[in-house]
Amino acid sequence: MKAAWYTENGGPEVLEYGDLPDPEVGAKTVLVRVEWISIEGGDLLNRIHVPPRTKPFVPGYQAAGIVEAVGAEVSRFAVGDRVMAFDWNGSHAELFAVPEHYAYAVPDGIDLRLASTIPVPFGTAHDSLFEYGDVAPGETVLVQGAAGGVGLSAVQLAAKAGATVIGTASGKDRLARIEPFGLHHGIDYTSEDIAERCREITGGKGVDMVLDLAGGRGKDKLVEALRPHGRYQVIGAAEGTLPTFNFFELIRKAMRVNGISFGRDMHTTRVRDMLADLTSKVASGELQMPVEREFPLSQVREAHTFVAEGHPFGRVLMKP
Ligand SMILES: NC(=O)c1ccc[n+]([C@@H]2O[C@H](COP(=O)([O-])OP(=O)(O)OC[C@H]3O[C@@H](n4cnc5c(N)ncnc54)[C@H](OP(=O)(O)O)[C@@H]3O)[C@@H](O)[C@H]2O)c1
Repeated sequence: MKAAWYTENGGPEVLEYGDLPDPEVGAKTVLVRVEWISIEGGDLLNRIHVPPRTKPFVPGYQAAGIVEAVGAEVSRFAVGDRVMAFDWNGSHAELFAVPEHYAYAVPDGIDLRLASTIPVPFGTAHDSLFEYGDVAPGETVLVQGAAGGVGLSAVQLAAKAGATVIGTASGKDRLARIEPFGLHHGIDYTSEDIAERCREITGGKGVDMVLDLAGGRGKDKLVEALRPHGRYQVIGAAEGTLPTFNFFELIRKAMRVNGISFGRDMHTTRVRDMLADLTSKVASGELQMPVEREFPLSQVREAHTFVAEGHPFGRVLMKP
């Protein structure tokens, strides 16, 4: 199969493209012929920070395509089915072998291109807000990194749940594009003081919940923006560096800090049902995920560079 891979951590330049052996089909495997690969924020984080578990290492969490083969113990899928697929790596290829519990049916009424964008962004946002966040109508949620895949999902889901949504992005033009998704207050993180703006917006109280998708040095302002006893959802580090929390910082506000790892829950029937519901809402247009650009997989370096530096709005896809 054609695939993209790397053997060491680094920037997009470590990515190679060429021929690799097809993945093996185990008893519980669903082998997917990939139609569309969605580049997830975590794909970049892994490439930079997480040592490759195999060499060569085919990266990538998420894709959608057609089932090419199934293992002897697979019961929910058959050859020819349309699926969205997740695994901790392997999506950047013509063939993506995933355990059955990481394959999700794509219903009629939605194409594979859009379906490829759904599981991780919408699922992570949903779990961060509800399963592990208990967001309530009338609460104020601050989404750091609101123009990305998880961010746009969170803005929509929080607004529909009756929360007041504050979101950050790099520039007023980007914030204006998020407004139709349900954003109530936009903050340009490149020029405005996030904590000060949140104090203004909340009448000095502070926000009830932070969804931190950027991590890094921006974390301190988010802590400052949070009200006492507020919830801080640690989700991502799109800024490229990893934040740390110190003792007094945590107890001063009696913060509740939740580490989110959606991938840990993706094998469950709870998540399968949740993703089926979210997928039907994307199919009906109730939820949306803009696709900024498409690349052939052979241009994987250019695609990753564009995600890292080009400030895409929503998702960037690759086609094998
Ligand atoms: N824990 C989990 O289970 C889980 C699940 C999914 C994703 N994640 C993580 O969540 C993060 C976001 O994922 P994604 O797929 O939404 O990524 P994405 O689509 O690439 O979006 C990243 C966003 O981060 C923003 N950003 C970058 N640097 C920033 C900074 N210094 N301050 C504020 N915002 C900044 C960007 O905003 P601008 O373009 O406007 O600058 C961009 O919109 C990634 O780190 C990913 O690994 C974690």
